[in-house]
Amino acid sequence: MNNAAQTFQAIVNERRSIRAFKSDPVGREVIDAVFAPALRAPSNCNTQPWFVHIVTGDKLEKLRESLPMAFATGDVAPDFPYDGVYDGVYKDRQYGAAKALYDALGIPREEKAKRQEWFLGNFRFFDAPAVAFFMLPDGFGLREACDLGMFTQTVMLGLTAQGLGSCPQTALGFMSKQIREVIDIPEHHKLMFGLSFGYPVDTPINDVVTDRTDLSSAVTFHS
Ligand SMILES: Cc1cc2nc3c(=O)[nH]c(=O)nc-3n(C[C@H](O)[C@H](O)[C@H](O)COP(=O)(O)O)c2cc1C
Repeated sequence: MNNAAQTFQAIVNERRSIRAFKSDPVGREVIDAVFAPALRAPSNCNTQPWFVHIVTGDKLEKLRESLPMAFATGDVAPDFPYDGVYDGVYKDRQYGAAKALYDALGIPREEKAKRQEWFLGNFRFFDAPAVAFFMLPDGFGLREACDLGMFTQTVMLGLTAQGLGSCPQTALGFMSKQIREVIDIPEHHKLMFGLSFGYPVDTPINDVVTDRTDLSSAVTFHS
């Protein structure tokens, strides 16, 4: 394997969802060095249908204060419909990922309140010093959501390459109303998800490596 291929593979393998962050700020030059090249991500007909709002500082602290309670009291209004109910093998994988996390945290199934409290950490951005909100133009849907996903994965790999960690969060997509109260977002930017990011803390929750299926279950070769 050549050097570029090795580096690529190392970065892809190194990326995982990070859910505990140091308070150290992420410099603007680092953010630019990640997000600018990510704009090279592909999109349908090169439409580049993404908007990102990055929040740090006082505004982030305001959100960190208000979002957990708003979610806990059911005050949620996602811009995009959410189903989130899986069956069969997809449900098994969902459970597997959740089990890996709660095992690392040492919170058993019966301790529902503790699990819920930890889940609320989503709305505190897992203490990250920065969050990016990923948005689509109003009226855009499934096809452009693929574009947004490709863009986001490019950002996440770029963050990993810079020694940063990140966690994509559908949970933050529920909080569009409260986020709009704190930051100025044009009405036609619709929130899909958030991405908390920063420098990872060395702690078991950040060591969790979720399972993947083998190649043959996802890829079929025809000739
Ligand atoms: C679109 C998207 C939304 C996600 N939402 C959340 C979330 O709200 N909270 C969370 O802790 N993890 C969330 N995750 C992280 C997934 O649980 C994680 O990617 C998956 O378990 C695989 O683990 P890995 O990212 O460590 O490889 C999300 C991931 C994606 C791609």
